Amino acid sequence: MTKESVQKIPYEKILISERQIQQVVRRITEQVNAYYAQADEAIALVLLEGARYFARDLLAGVQFPIQTEYLEADSYKGSTRSCGTVEIRDSQKLRQKIEGKQVLVIDDIYDTGLTLSAVMEWVRACRPAEIKTCVFLEKRVPHQKQISIDFLGMRIEDVFVIGYGLDYQNRYRQLPFIAVLSI
Ligand code: IMP
Ligand code: MG
Repeated sequence: MTKESVQKIPYEKILISERQIQQVVRRITEQVNAYYAQADEAIALVLLEGARYFARDLLAGVQFPIQTEYLEADSYKGSTRSCGTVEIRDSQKLRQKIEGKQVLVIDDIYDTGLTLSAVMEWVRACRPAEIKTCVFLEKRVPHQKQISIDFLGMRIEDVFVIGYGLDYQNRYRQLPFIAVLSI
C-alpha cells in the first residue's frame, strides 16, 4: 500500500498491528486445535462479511477436518451504532448441514451482542451437536446480550475500529491492521 493511499483512510491510530494480529491468531488457532483434536466433523460458520479475513487466517492453521460455511448476518446499516435489527440470510441446505455437527461460529467483533445472539438462536434451531464461539475482538461495553465466547482474540475499549474485516460503510476491510476510525 502506498503512503498516499494510506493517508486517505480516516484513522486516528493503529490499535492492533499486523504483527499483533498474527500473534493473536496463532494463539487462538492453537486453542482451537487443542479443543477439536478428536473432532471428525466440525463446521466453521463464518459470519459475513467481517469475519472472512480472521476466519481465513484461523482456518489456515487448523489441523482437524472442518467444513467452512458462510452466513450473512447484518445488524449495521452503514452507521457506527447497531440499529438493533438483525437480518439472517439462511437456507434450508445450510440448516441441514449444521444438524448434528459440532459448530464453531466465527465472528469479527462482539459489541452489543445482538448479532451473535440472533445467530446463536438460529444455529440452535438447526439442532447441532454443539456450538462454540470464536470472536476476534470484544468491546469493553455493557453488552445488550450476553454471549459466552469460547475463543477470544482481544478486548478493546469502546471505539469504532476498521480493518482486518471490520468496515465503515463497507470500506476499509482490507487494511492489514486494526485502526480507530476518525470520522
Ligand atoms: P453487535 O451485534 O453490536 O455485537 O455487532 C456485531 C457487528 O457489528 C459486527 O459483526 C460488525 O460488523 C459490527 N461492528 C461492531 N462494532 C464495530 C466496529 O467498531 N467497527 C466495525 N464494525 C463493527
Ligand atoms: Mg459490519
